[in-house]
Amino acid sequence: MNLKIAVLSGDGIGPEVILQAKKALYAIAVVFDHEFVFEDALIGAYAIEKTGNPLPEQTLNLCLNTDAVLMGAIGDIKYDHNSNTKLRPIDGLLRLRQALGLYANIRPIKPYRDLLDLSPLKRKIIEDTDFVIFREISGGSYFTEKKINEQGTVASDLCEYTEDEIIRITHLAFKTAQKRRNKVTLVDKANILETSKLWRKIVTEISDSYPEVETEFLFVDDAAMKIIINPKQFDVILTENLFGDILSDEASVITGAIGLLPSASLGNSTALFKPIHGSFSEAKTKNIANPIASVLSAAMLLEHFSLHLEAEKVYEAVAKAIELNVVTADLNPYSKFGTNEVGDFISNFILSKDDLYFKSDNVYIGQSTIV
Ligand code: IPM
Ligand code: MN
Repeated sequence: MNLKIAVLSGDGIGPEVILQAKKALYAIAVVFDHEFVFEDALIGAYAIEKTGNPLPEQTLNLCLNTDAVLMGAIGDIKYDHNSNTKLRPIDGLLRLRQALGLYANIRPIKPYRDLLDLSPLKRKIIEDTDFVIFREISGGSYFTEKKINEQGTVASDLCEYTEDEIIRITHLAFKTAQKRRNKVTLVDKANILETSKLWRKIVTEISDSYPEVETEFLFVDDAAMKIIINPKQFDVILTENLFGDILSDEASVITGAIGLLPSASLGNSTALFKPIHGSFSEAKTKNIANPIASVLSAAMLLEHFSLHLEAEKVYEAVAKAIELNVVTADLNPYSKFGTNEVGDFISNFILSKDDLYFKSDNVYIGQSTIV
């Protein structure tokens, strides 16, 4: 398969973790005889510095004319707590979501058996957890009218959903549940919010067309608690934009490290794949950032194009790295491996360079032939 992939490495640790994802994809291309062409473009704080725009025209055009977008992270401490600035790196991502018509942000939560003790939660609670969050990302309170009065004493953010916005992601969630364990949990606040009442009504109607799928409704406060108390009860969680943002960070605690979590954003055209984590500027170029979330995002990209064997190979390589402890310090504080070495191990495993991957010394000195 020929794929053109726009690579928006972004800020902080973005470039170094995305490099490892590219190495994995190059290795997949070699082994499975595909052609992946990568084209880099600017986004976020780095794009602001270079062009004055967090989503330059050139980046947008590239993303509109490519098969997929692989993105790193955006944000810089400089902008984080400066509410006066008109230029925000995160607008790069928000505008891109809108421009590409992305509406379903998919975040799988499945802890690795070898890493269960990393989580602050008890092993017996989290083992065998396997759910996926379908977070709506085109609506809610993210892109609607924002107001603050002249005195700066009263502010409001409108939360709005249309029927169509709810319908499309709901079908996606139910179709996914059919391929998993046949359960969809709608998370809302239907005791208070009109938007939530609309979600419940539409999800109830749509659920009739999926009789084999069990539909559950939970208020968001209750769901936040159940994610921690009994995460095994979930299969597909369907929820609106802001609830999904909050619950997915909460759920990441189950896996033990946010540096493990990938995501896919699907829409009407080009899909976008990125780790969930932020730019972690303090770690930039220190070779300590965990590249696994980016590598797994690349695997989700492969799955999106129905390259299931290829994605499987990447998952296998990551699981092997974890099993053999070829991981960064967030997963093992005594690790001698850094971002690059983990990336080398993964790409070498994909290339079946057995002699290299069994000798961890070679991994350490970075004997990768890729990139
Ligand atoms: C995420 C992030 C974004 C969001 C920010 C960076 C705009 O937190 O992808 O979860 O809130 O959607
Ligand atoms: Mn978030």
